[in-house]
Amino acid sequence: MEKYIINGGKALFGEVPIIGAKNAVLPILAATVINGGENTISNIPKLKDVEVMIKILTSLGAKVEDNGETLSIDSSTINNVSLPEELVREMRSSIIFMGALLARFGEAVLSYPGGCEIGPRPIDLHLKSLRQMGATIEESHGFLYCKTKGLRGCDIQLDYPSVGATENIILAAVTAEGITTIRNAAREPEIIDLQDYLNKAGCRVKGAGTSIITIEGVKELFNCEHRIIPDRIVAGTFMAAAAITKGEVILKNIVVDHLQSIIAKLKETGTTTITDKNDIKIIGPDKLGPIEMLQTLPFPGFPTDMQAQFMALLSIAGGTSIINETVFENRFKHAEELTRMGANIKTFGNVAVIKGVNELTGAKVFAKDLRGGAALVLSGLAAQGVTEVENVYHINRGYENLNLSLQRLGANIISV
Ligand code: EPZ
Repeated sequence: MEKYIINGGKALFGEVPIIGAKNAVLPILAATVINGGENTISNIPKLKDVEVMIKILTSLGAKVEDNGETLSIDSSTINNVSLPEELVREMRSSIIFMGALLARFGEAVLSYPGGCEIGPRPIDLHLKSLRQMGATIEESHGFLYCKTKGLRGCDIQLDYPSVGATENIILAAVTAEGITTIRNAAREPEIIDLQDYLNKAGCRVKGAGTSIITIEGVKELFNCEHRIIPDRIVAGTFMAAAAITKGEVILKNIVVDHLQSIIAKLKETGTTTITDKNDIKIIGPDKLGPIEMLQTLPFPGFPTDMQAQFMALLSIAGGTSIINETVFENRFKHAEELTRMGANIKTFGNVAVIKGVNELTGAKVFAKDLRGGAALVLSGLAAQGVTEVENVYHINRGYENLNLSLQRLGANIISV
């Protein structure tokens, strides 16, 4: 199994271009099912999760051509509505195909997406909303059998601004009869990107990025070209890497607006951030300061996907910081691995108390999930001595050759 070997203590310097957003490209690839035509999607990140999406599209009968950073998807040839069980298990966000297949074919069969490393990941909000729109969904023997004679637009009040549920409802609604209104919708930038793609294909989606989204069903969709937005979590991870190594790094092709909560919290640690159009320069301080309270929240709050990386950062801050993880039930697995490197972290349910230490020391640590793995790489970059990060496959789900990007910034990191 691939692992990283990191010789820490080196400051990062240089420029890093930011790749397309994993959490934008996944729902958009599912959405290409609906127009039954040609889709050219560019700025595609080379990630494990994207490979799984391509396998699922191909298994449904779509023609997918991978031209490097652009994918051409012809969904006119789709002739199957049943997702392969092993692929759904491999990537739980494949639940997003439910809305897309119901919108085009009025039918979808997929295995119940399991929980994952960060929590049970229920889909009750997805099922309740799609049933409200007129889908019958039978759950039996671990499979979901979804059918509809025709989805109807309706008013949906989400109990929680779930990103996936918001996206699934939008996809189901684009060809439904009438208007669908989602209240308490998720406001993440990736949902705006999904709206942009869908409207280019002839849909009528409005309000993405706010809590109220309306979708007017249409009968005909068209071929479409779309470029994926930059990945704000990959950007945040490199920003944290510059800060934790006392380096000076410029991130290219970012959207500053997507990073405001991360910038604000980085400033609290004494890190300097200088934005210039679609670039941002990060200068790490000699000594990081603590953050009194870091609470993860739905966008535009501080993203849960950056919590692990900030826990690594705060492990060597001068003082005590508190993290409150309000989005997922079990997203502190990296804490015990950071402790093996000398961090002083105590967790009480969804609250972690981090007492900064002078320095971390290299150790053999295990990535337990995608962002926790990234956090261990950051701590290895700052630690004295050698850190081995095992189970890099978790990291490859959301970062494109992270070791090579870091090497180009001066890090001593190899993959074996
Ligand atoms: C998306 O997951 C992202 N994944 C996650 O990124 C991200 O952490 C999350 O949104 C929150 O921002 C993709 O976009 C592919 P949710 P999603 O539905 O849609 C509960 C990463 O590292 N919930 O907003 O699954 C759920 O249990 C990944 O890139 C229900 O209770 O997140 C969780 O506690 C990790 N019932 C909370 O809502 C439901 O029906 C947020 O989940 C759905 C969700």
